This record gives sequence, C-alpha cells and structure tokens, in this order.
Amino acid sequence: MPTENAQPPFPRPKTRVAVLISGSGTNMASLIAAGQAADAPYQVAVVVSNIAEVAGLDKARAAGVEALTVEHKPFGKDREAHERAIDALLVERNIEVIALAGYMRLLTPWLVQKWAGRMLNIHPSLLPLYPGLNTHARAIEAGDLEAGCTVHVVTEGVDEGPVLGQARVPILPGDTPDALAERVKAAEHSLYPQTLAAFVAR
Ligand code: GAR
Repeated sequence: MPTENAQPPFPRPKTRVAVLISGSGTNMASLIAAGQAADAPYQVAVVVSNIAEVAGLDKARAAGVEALTVEHKPFGKDREAHERAIDALLVERNIEVIALAGYMRLLTPWLVQKWAGRMLNIHPSLLPLYPGLNTHARAIEAGDLEAGCTVHVVTEGVDEGPVLGQARVPILPGDTPDALAERVKAAEHSLYPQTLAAFVAR
C-alpha cells in the first residue's frame, strides 16, 4: 500500500546547467562528459561563449550540446546589457545552475544577485590564495610547495564566495607556470564535475 511519503518510482530529473566559457573549454568538456553519465544528477544543457569561434564551442557541439555566442563587444561598456542577453537565453532554456569555466569577464552585481546561490566558478589556485590572474607564476614565485584549484559559489567579490571543493597538486623543483598549469588543469577536470554533482544533489 503506498503511503503519503512514498518516493515516486522514477528518478529525479537532471538539473539543467549552463556553462559559460571564453576559450578552450577543457573544464566545460569534462563537465559535459560527466553530466552525460546515466546516473549523473546534472546535465549541461547549453554552453555560452562571450567570444566567437573559440575551441570550446566546437567541443560542446561535438558532444551534442547546444553552443551559443553572445559577444560582449557590441554592448560596449554596458556589461549588464550583455549579461541580460545571456540571462534571457538561459531563462528560455530553463537553466537552473550556471557553471563558469574559464569565463574571463568580470560579472556585474545584477547577474551575481540574480543567480545568487546558483552560480559556481572554478579558479586555478587554492583560494583564498592568489585570486585574479597569473596564479601559477605567483605560487612558484612565492616558493609554495603546493598549488591547486578551487570550486566556489560566485559572490560579488572576484574569486570570493563559499568554497565547495579544492584539489591540491605538488609544485615540483624547476616547475614553469605552464607545467604547473597543466598539472592543475588535470586536477580541475576531476574536481569540477564531482563538486557540481554534489552541489546539485545536495
Ligand atoms: C581554468 O584553469 C580555470 O580555472 C581558469 O581558466 C582556465 C580555463 O581553462 N579560470 C580562471 O582563472 C577564473 N578566475 P579551460 O577553458 O580549458 O577550461
């Protein structure tokens, strides 16, 4: 006899995620691939780039995911108008969560507030260390013995916001920023899908 509290006999629908990119989209590709597993709690439903013809768009389409460009240039200094154009596309597609993955634009308070608690970012350092750019060179320069990456909820401060997950890698003697970046990227590609899955399933 079913009771009032019985779970429905079908799985919860996958959370619809939009990934925002500006470039190569290697993190985006790992998010798409993990989301395509039958038991994944999310799916990447659309990818949006602010720059036309970046490699990430081709990767998304090759994986069967809709990939759109909303260039920021035509909006000039009106960053919020650019974000409103992106937001309209996400709303049309019933997107529930945004994952920034190498999206190299500063966000306005409007977008951050609209998606508060529903927008994640990945950053290539062990935040709160090294927000901003050139993280790998700065970690090597400082003589750090380890580096890593952080997935966090996006808030108005750049590379701030509650940390959801971190992965650490060693900094090896003689490391260049490029060599370290490659090691950190490999860690990013596991950390981001795992953290996003845990976030949407929470
Ligand atoms: C990644 O390393 C990501 O952590 C970084 O951009 C790269 C994008 O690579 N993001 C930031 O620096 C954000 N502050 P990808 O396009 O190959 O995923």
